[in-house]
Amino acid sequence: MAATRTILITGGAGFIGSHLVRLFVHKYPHYHIVNLDALTYAGNLANLQDIEQAPNYTFVKGDIRDQEYMQVLFNRYGFDGVIHLAAESHVDRSITNPLAFVETNVLGTVNLLNVARQTWKDDFSGKRFYHVSTDEVYGSLGEEGLFTEETPYDPRSPYSASKASSDHFVRAWYHTYGLPVVLSNCSNNYGPYQFPEKLIPLMINNIRENKPLPVYGDGKYTRDWLWVKDHAGAIDQVFHKGKDGETYNIGGNNEWKNIDLVQKLCDILDELLGHAAGTSRQLITFVKDRPGHDRRYAIDASKIRRELGWEPSIKFEEGFRQTAQWYLDNPGWLQQVISGDYQDYYKQQYD
Ligand code: NAD
Ligand code: TYD
Repeated sequence: MAATRTILITGGAGFIGSHLVRLFVHKYPHYHIVNLDALTYAGNLANLQDIEQAPNYTFVKGDIRDQEYMQVLFNRYGFDGVIHLAAESHVDRSITNPLAFVETNVLGTVNLLNVARQTWKDDFSGKRFYHVSTDEVYGSLGEEGLFTEETPYDPRSPYSASKASSDHFVRAWYHTYGLPVVLSNCSNNYGPYQFPEKLIPLMINNIRENKPLPVYGDGKYTRDWLWVKDHAGAIDQVFHKGKDGETYNIGGNNEWKNIDLVQKLCDILDELLGHAAGTSRQLITFVKDRPGHDRRYAIDASKIRRELGWEPSIKFEEGFRQTAQWYLDNPGWLQQVISGDYQDYYKQQYD
């Protein structure tokens, strides 16, 4: 069957990207999905083993910063749409190595925008460039309030500054060149295949290994957690039904203070592992705070709900349990990603 649309997904071997690629490959058999990923430490083809033979799926290893190669791919495949997720994504790494974030998140995005614009020229009909971003661009909230699409940008970490910058460039390509773009800014995701440098999988892995659970500062920092498959579902809605030039906030309406979340995780894992109640909580250790640590993120997702009919599908308790169970059921995946470089990263970050 000839593909009706050919879509480039960047960063599809990462955490969110792999869920999105899987969703699109299954849901749209008449689309050709091309997954471009540089396979950095965060990219892992094991995340996509179940679909690698699908007839409507192609993986290409490549770097979004490579102008010539990206142009070759656009010419070869004739993409109608781009969903851009490739990025350096971890705040702590951005503090130790900010330039990598500027290079990938800013320069890589600008490169991609330029190649899309030059390939599609002035005939943008049927084309779409979708930039996937984060709520961290809005900065930090106090006890009250929510981020809306109108909240002024106020990024505070090198990661969020690089994402904010890339968002500005995407909007500049819309206003200046008429490139049909759409953006979304999402809250913290959790679920299977997340690299164990992020809070939830790091804690699950440490509980498995009976290692200290490092909670930064007073542990009262708050995040709004969303099930990763719900994020993929939201991206699907925005890609197909969102309006050009618009931004959609995506969130779980599900705020947790870190310490409460870690305690909850301890209790679930004690149950799943058959440990006595309270065992894992003893591993909780308060450690030095992250510099510039944003106090609270929380999303007002009423626009996407109202305009595109999207809502999170599962409750946190259920998603959390499924996530914990998935990591316990997939020790091979965890073992593979925590071998090698991860050990050096962990030492540098936590020792
Ligand atoms: P991730 O780190 O798991 O995956 C990023 C992927 O990008 C990896 O597969 C990596 O190999 C690839 N990549 C990195 N540099 C590249 C380059 N130069 N060229 C090509 N590929 C490259 O990240 P994630 O958590 O899946 O996040 C995906 C996107 O969603 C990012 O843009 C991130 O800013 C955004 N986002 C993430 C969250 C979250 O909670 N994880 C929330 C909101 C938005
Ligand atoms: P993280 O998963 O890195 O996401 P982000 O910083 O992008 O929100 O961290 C989530 C929260 O958990 C954040 O407030 C920092 C905190 N945290 C810890 O307390 N200990 C840890 O080891 C990590 C990785 C994060």
